[in-house]
Amino acid sequence: MTDFFDIKDREFQENPHPTYKRLITECPVHHSDKYGFFSVSRYQDVKEILRNTALWSSKFGPGTAYADPNAPNALVNVDPPEHDFQLRLVNKAFTKQTIAALEPDIAGFVTKLVDDLKPRGRGDLMRDFAMHIPLFVIARMLGVNPDDGLMFRGWVEELTLGVFGDADPAVIQRVQGEFGAYFINEVQKRQTVLDAGGTLEDDLITRLLTAEVDGKRLEPARVLGFISFLLIAGSGTTTMLVCNTIHHLLENPDQMAKVLANPDLIPAAAEESMRFTAPVHGLFRTNNEDVTLHGVHIPKDSKVMCMFAAANLDESQFSEPDRFNVERDPSELRKQLGFGWGTHICTGAPLARMEARIALHEILTRLPNLRADGPAVQTAPSVLYGFDHLPVAWDVE
Ligand code: HEM
Repeated sequence: MTDFFDIKDREFQENPHPTYKRLITECPVHHSDKYGFFSVSRYQDVKEILRNTALWSSKFGPGTAYADPNAPNALVNVDPPEHDFQLRLVNKAFTKQTIAALEPDIAGFVTKLVDDLKPRGRGDLMRDFAMHIPLFVIARMLGVNPDDGLMFRGWVEELTLGVFGDADPAVIQRVQGEFGAYFINEVQKRQTVLDAGGTLEDDLITRLLTAEVDGKRLEPARVLGFISFLLIAGSGTTTMLVCNTIHHLLENPDQMAKVLANPDLIPAAAEESMRFTAPVHGLFRTNNEDVTLHGVHIPKDSKVMCMFAAANLDESQFSEPDRFNVERDPSELRKQLGFGWGTHICTGAPLARMEARIALHEILTRLPNLRADGPAVQTAPSVLYGFDHLPVAWDVE
C-alpha cells in the first residue's frame, strides 16, 4: 500500500490540509519508511515533545539530516543548559528596543518597493516584493551592506535544502565556503577594532560578539553558526508568511473585504495565516531513549518531526480549523504553533510579525482591487510551505 503521507510529494505540498487531518485522526504517530523518520501531529503530543527537552533533544538539529552534535552549534541545535546560556546572550542582542528601532527603516524600504510596483499594475508579489524584505532587514540588523541581500538569497536557498538533507554536498560546501568567507571577514573586522580598544557601530554581529553572561561570551564560531541559522530561519519563512496571507485573502473575498474595511485586522489576518498554513510544516527532535506513543515504538535516536502545521488544525484546540477566519478568537490564535513553542520558540517572531504587518499594510492599502493574475506556484516540497510565484494585478489610478 502506498503511504498516504510523503512530505516530498508535490500533491501534498499543493494541498496539505487533507493529509494533516488524516495524520491527526488516523495516524498520530506516522513512520515514513521512505525517509526513515517519524511524524507527530496532534496538538498536545507536539507540545509535550517540545516541552520535554531532556527526552526530546535538539542536538542532532531541527532538520531530517543528523547534524554533528559535537560541532560548535548555536541555539537551535543545542539543549539546555547550553541553550539557556546562549539564549540569554542572543536576547541581549535581540531586544524589543533593537527591533522597534528597525521599524522606520523597514517601512521606508517597503514603501519604496510599492512605489516602484504601483504604476506597473501587475507583478509577482513573491519575487518583486516579499522576497526582498527580510533579506534587507537581516542585512540591516547584522550591519552588513543591504545590497548584498540578493547574494544571501542564493545561499539561503541551498542551505535550506541542506536542512532537509536534499542538497548536493559539493554545492553546500561551496556555499558554506562563500558564506563563511563573507561573515568571517565581517566578524574579524569588528574583532580587530575591539582588540584595539576602538568603538564599533551597534549592530547585531557586534552585539553577539560582545554580549556577556556570567562573564562568558559566544565564541566567534558559534556567532557564525548563529548568523547562518538566522538567514535560513528568518528570510524564506517571513516571505512565505506575507505571500500566504495575501493568497488566503484573495481566495476568501469575504475575509479580504473585512480586512480592507478595517486594516486594524491585518495583524490578526497574518496570525490566522500562521495558524492556517504555517510556513514551516514541522521541525525535528531526536529521542534520547526508546519511546512508545499511541502504541508506536520509536527507537532511541530517531528523527521525529513535530508537525506544527498539522497541530494548528487540531479540532481539540481550534474551532472550525479548516476555515480561514481573520476574526478568530484571540485566545485560539495565541495557541497556534507556527513559531514553535517552549524552549526553542522563535526568537524572531516579533520581528517577523512586524515585517508582515508593514508589508501587508502597504500592499492592501496602496494597491486597489488587488486580484490574482494567474496561478500561484508553490515552492518545491520541503519543510517549508509557501509560494515561489504569486502573480497579482491591481488597478492603476
Ligand atoms: C514567519 C516567519 C518565521 C517562522 C514561521 C519561524 C519559525 C520558527 C520555528 C518553528 C522555530 C522553532 C525551531 C525549533 O523548535 O526547533 C524558530 C526558531 C527560531 N527562529 Fe524563527 N521563524 C520565523 C522568523 C524568524 C526571524 C525573522 C528570525 C530572526 C531574524 C528568526 C529566528 C529564529 C531563531 C534564532 C530561532 C531559534 C530559537 C531557539 O532555538 O531558541 N525566525 N522559528
